[in-house]
Amino acid sequence: MSISIKQTLHFIDSPEEFLADIAVQNTMLLIDENVLNLHEKCFEGFDSIAIPSGESQKRIEAVEYIIAALLDAGIDRNGTLIGIGGGVVTDLTGFIASVYLRGINFGFLPTTLLAMCDASIGGKNGINFGAFKNMVGTITQPNFIAFYPAFLSTLSDREFNSGMAEVIKHAVINGGALQKFLQDNRRATLFENPEKIKKLCQLAVEVKVTVVEKDEKEDGLRKKLNLGHTIGHAIEALNDLTAPVGFLQTRTESKANPPGASEKTHGECVAIGMVLAARIAVREGLAKEELVEEIIDYCAAYSLPVKTEIKPELLIEKILKDKKRKSGEIDFIIPHGFGDVRIVPLALTELENHLKEMANE
Ligand SMILES: NC(=O)c1ccc[n+]([C@@H]2O[C@H](COP(=O)([O-])OP(=O)(O)OC[C@H]3O[C@@H](n4cnc5c(N)ncnc54)[C@H](O)[C@@H]3O)[C@@H](O)[C@H]2O)c1
Repeated sequence: MSISIKQTLHFIDSPEEFLADIAVQNTMLLIDENVLNLHEKCFEGFDSIAIPSGESQKRIEAVEYIIAALLDAGIDRNGTLIGIGGGVVTDLTGFIASVYLRGINFGFLPTTLLAMCDASIGGKNGINFGAFKNMVGTITQPNFIAFYPAFLSTLSDREFNSGMAEVIKHAVINGGALQKFLQDNRRATLFENPEKIKKLCQLAVEVKVTVVEKDEKEDGLRKKLNLGHTIGHAIEALNDLTAPVGFLQTRTESKANPPGASEKTHGECVAIGMVLAARIAVREGLAKEELVEEIIDYCAAYSLPVKTEIKPELLIEKILKDKKRKSGEIDFIIPHGFGDVRIVPLALTELENHLKEMANE
């Protein structure tokens, strides 16, 4: 299935009305547990599996558990899986639906800003493997994505801000209307205004879809969407991705987080990675210092972190295992300015030097 903005941007007035058009039989909802508790009435009448909150659900044991539940429920090749939650649930749902019985229909009702503006779009899905992010997955487009911005009324400030990191990333990549919108709309006016949230989602989704339409399989252009992610994923992978939680308490070990790594959300890690990428751009003579200051300003407006205390050696160790590595070099996404982001081959030794020197600045 291909992707287009027209097909992707579908705002709904009510989840109940939207779901009323979907056959209850042979449909399974995968719902983030917090969302289920907060919005239970929206999902009445459907079979559902509650997914405990947290990144550590994106793991192979969760896939096994959920597939066993789908088989038990008799979901067959004509069945439909609907992921309702943030990026963790949409990634997990997309992956399971694309491999279960060699692929069944699936769709999303994203419930975090991050999932609405980024994770639910573009067909990438996947799970972590051990302590490594998104190591296993597919690129399979969902059959539908239904946007209900009112879900965000129950989202915490921190998770809202975390979603803004990916929105800021899209603004850096594309500049244009999204950047202007962020300039004109400060946080206070955004969070409580459904129409503005709708506009924000629309602009962010347009940036992502425009890129994915041209390069779905990430042969080139799509890599730009990884701005901030090389370092961001390394920081996130130093969180304890294997911590035992909820129904998937299959692991007993828990390791102490290194300083600076604990409890960072995905968006917070991306914000740090994006600022460090901009600082590297300046160090390489590819961007002006003002770019760093501008990105920091946007992040500061949403209380997002912009630096890390994690030792560069630890980050490099994680980046070495990152799937985007090509021998001693990686495709590093360098912002030259808003609307001008480029893919630059960067030697890992050079990246390590930058990280070490920046840690001492
Ligand atoms: N596939 C992609 O293209 C893509 C892109 C970006 C990020 N991601 C992935 O997305 C994940 C991060 O997603 P996320 O930031 O949405 O995190 P998340 O799914 O963990 O959700 C964040 C928190 O918000 C809670 N929550 C969700 N909706 C809520 C609501 N409406 N009200 C109250 N609480 C709610 C959840 O229970 C959770 O505690 C990461 O795993 C990342 O790798 C994927």
